[in-house]
Amino acid sequence: MSNKTQIQMLNPPQRLLMGPGPINADPRVLRAMSAQLIGQYDPVMTGFMNETMARYREVFKTNNTQTLLIDGTSRAGIEAVLVSLLRPGDKVLVPVMGRFGHLLTEIAQRAKAEVHTIEVPWGEVFKPEQIEEAIKRIKPRVLAMVQGDTSTTMNQPLQHIGDICEKHDVLFYCDATASIVGNDLPVDEWKLDALSVGLQKCLGGPSGSAPITLSDKAVDWIRQRKKVEAGIRTDEHKDGVEPFIGSNYFDLSMIMDYWGEERLNHHTEATSMLYCASECARIVLEEGVDNSVARHKLHGDAILFGLQALGLKVFGDIKNKMNNVVGVYIPSEVDGDKVRNQMLNDFGIEIGTSFGPLHGKIWRIGTMGYNARKDTVLQTLACLDACLHANGYKGPSGEATLAALAHYK
Ligand SMILES: Cc1ncc(COP(=O)(O)O)c(C=O)c1O
Repeated sequence: MSNKTQIQMLNPPQRLLMGPGPINADPRVLRAMSAQLIGQYDPVMTGFMNETMARYREVFKTNNTQTLLIDGTSRAGIEAVLVSLLRPGDKVLVPVMGRFGHLLTEIAQRAKAEVHTIEVPWGEVFKPEQIEEAIKRIKPRVLAMVQGDTSTTMNQPLQHIGDICEKHDVLFYCDATASIVGNDLPVDEWKLDALSVGLQKCLGGPSGSAPITLSDKAVDWIRQRKKVEAGIRTDEHKDGVEPFIGSNYFDLSMIMDYWGEERLNHHTEATSMLYCASECARIVLEEGVDNSVARHKLHGDAILFGLQALGLKVFGDIKNKMNNVVGVYIPSEVDGDKVRNQMLNDFGIEIGTSFGPLHGKIWRIGTMGYNARKDTVLQTLACLDACLHANGYKGPSGEATLAALAHYK
């Protein structure tokens, strides 16, 4: 006999997701994901794969041939890059400015690399000189850093780091999951060797696919670690001279051959996620990458000015804030969780709490992807204003939306 849970259809409530991500997916992306599956080696499917590669080359502003998707959430992309670039014992330098620098450290440790870190306090970014000094001292094979760290809302300036890496023959990898297309990141101009991202922030999709790109230098190195699986291997296949990659699923040498002309079998493609990732890129390209960055700046500033007009103190170094997320201190006279819960339960709006040293101290509010819009900004400000005052806040009332509207004018 069936009970209620077995027969009820999944029907999530309407929510406006204004935290640091995930955010509401663009309806066009959801539509693309519901398209019917086709076979993995159907020429139409391989055509879609090539088209997806081409779209992400434009999104990333790169000519890198090896621009493809890793099936999994953003950390799948990070893990694929790090485990493929780093042999056990290789040195990697990770500048840590928040939670996600710690994540890169953790993943590199599990790849058995020799991990070196430098740190700045949460809310700050690194100067290029600090990174160059550490590179000279440590002589790493790879520099691995985060561009936008949502845990602190900071956007690490990267334009001079590629030159430093080139000068010292270091492979430059960046995790731009939270910042891509909300903040500038021209991959070739800034000389990145590897980049990984996710869909669930400014790209306006759900999490579950991690687009990456690799420079020729990174590709040449990874190919030296190539190993082809028994069962699909032919006499023509040659293994690389370096120790093979310690993960099968994340072995970029095999994944590149699967996305490349040989179409060498690897995993079963997550077809619905490929449709999804491809549509995310198409929507960005329709708008234009630079226009997307400018839209994130416009709405990010509108919410920033609104929050300041509400009398809230902004966390961190505003000059280096990501366009798409802002942190504000929770006023001492209110219970932060009660305010957030009321926003969710009475208004259906979600804003973010925070991690580690900032837990219970700041809220994080995102304006990104499909939700970087005037209506969402104004609704969030009006709702926060109401919920703060309903919970005993003593600061200004009614000013937040007016400040945002003034910015839009
Ligand atoms: C900068 C950054 N890197 C990595 C991740 C991890 O992503 P995922 O949870 O999709 O694996 C996130 C998630 O918020 C992030 O913001």
